[in-house]
Amino acid sequence: MSQDDRWERLTQVGPGTPGGNYMRYFWHPVAALVELDKEPVIPVTLLGEKLVLFRGEDGNIGLVSERCPHRGVSLGMGFIEGNGLRCAYHAWKYDTAGRCVDTPAEPADSTLKNRISLKSYPVQVMTGMVWAYLGKAPIPLLPRFEYLVREDCEHDVGISRVPCNWLQCAENNVDPYHIEFMHMMYTNHVHKRKGMPPVQQRKHAKIDFEVFRFGIVKKRLWEGDSEDSEEWTVGHPVLFPGTAIVPYPVPGWVQGQIRVPVDDTHTNIYWVNSRQVAPGATPRKEVPLWENPWTDANGKYDPAMINAQDMMAMITQGPITDHSAENLGTSDRGLVMYRRALLQQLEKVERGEDPFGVVRDPAENTPWIDIPTERHVNYSLAGAQASATYEIPKLEKAGETA
Ligand code: FES
Ligand SMILES: [Fe+2]
Repeated sequence: MSQDDRWERLTQVGPGTPGGNYMRYFWHPVAALVELDKEPVIPVTLLGEKLVLFRGEDGNIGLVSERCPHRGVSLGMGFIEGNGLRCAYHAWKYDTAGRCVDTPAEPADSTLKNRISLKSYPVQVMTGMVWAYLGKAPIPLLPRFEYLVREDCEHDVGISRVPCNWLQCAENNVDPYHIEFMHMMYTNHVHKRKGMPPVQQRKHAKIDFEVFRFGIVKKRLWEGDSEDSEEWTVGHPVLFPGTAIVPYPVPGWVQGQIRVPVDDTHTNIYWVNSRQVAPGATPRKEVPLWENPWTDANGKYDPAMINAQDMMAMITQGPITDHSAENLGTSDRGLVMYRRALLQQLEKVERGEDPFGVVRDPAENTPWIDIPTERHVNYSLAGAQASATYEIPKLEKAGETA
């Protein structure tokens, strides 16, 4: 395998590509449920496939190919009638399984519709998100990770739509040093220029990574901390293909950062906050959605925003970064390990085996899947700016009292 083959294998997500075949072993969020409340017909792209997500009046959700088989108009411009989706052009109607059920301009005895269908994919709703599976049968289970399904937690979901390849987004998760340099050193440079107080500056003593059933656990030890620190003894995971579980410095709060490949040059990042409520309190059932942009109101990167810093680092590498032009050091060994493990997963798929993270055993999925996640972190970025809308998920803005 040449180097170029390796990068194509890791970055391509379209149908029939090795990376695309790998990605099709997983369920991916395709929209937030509240988006369907606002608009029941949503054009979406996932793994390079143009699709339409729609919800009929019976509440059933369909995910079908976007192009109307009649004469190619986008069904993303269609409308709901009853439990189906009608094309805007000649009102051919489709059900959630993609079957054509009506061709109203044709004679009443026409059998044309019986020969027409759309590609359709299974969907499931979990934690306020609609998840889709674009792969082949047998369909794996939608994994019930603890942060997604604990009943004593409430959730909110942020979304960022970033114009670059999924891999350079996900690699940010296996790069511990960027906390020390971008989120601390660079933030303090920005803060000094803005006349803001500094955030804590810490220094890594060592880092480590471990491959496990669902991906890679990332561990760090800060200089001055004991080796009993949970950041070192437990660490936190990157769930393959590209989800980080990041602890908040608040007990019982974690954030899942799910990187969903839209196509080769676009990625949707779902920031799923899970917050344990006080004992005896009833968690809010609704899952609000908030936008988490990487630019400020003027369309510019704001270097003081933590999430925007991360997205700046992802996006400015280019639509698909030239990985062959990188010069990696020992501090990048998390990336090296991640890429190697991903390539091994692609090879498994080529041998017909399940890659890491595919769940088929209901016992493993019940009541939830435990994954190693540190509950205490020994650093604070307090004082750094959250992004413009990052405050929205806070409880008081969601109609709760904190
Ligand atoms: S193009 Fe869709 S019904 Fe004619
Ligand atoms: Fe970061």
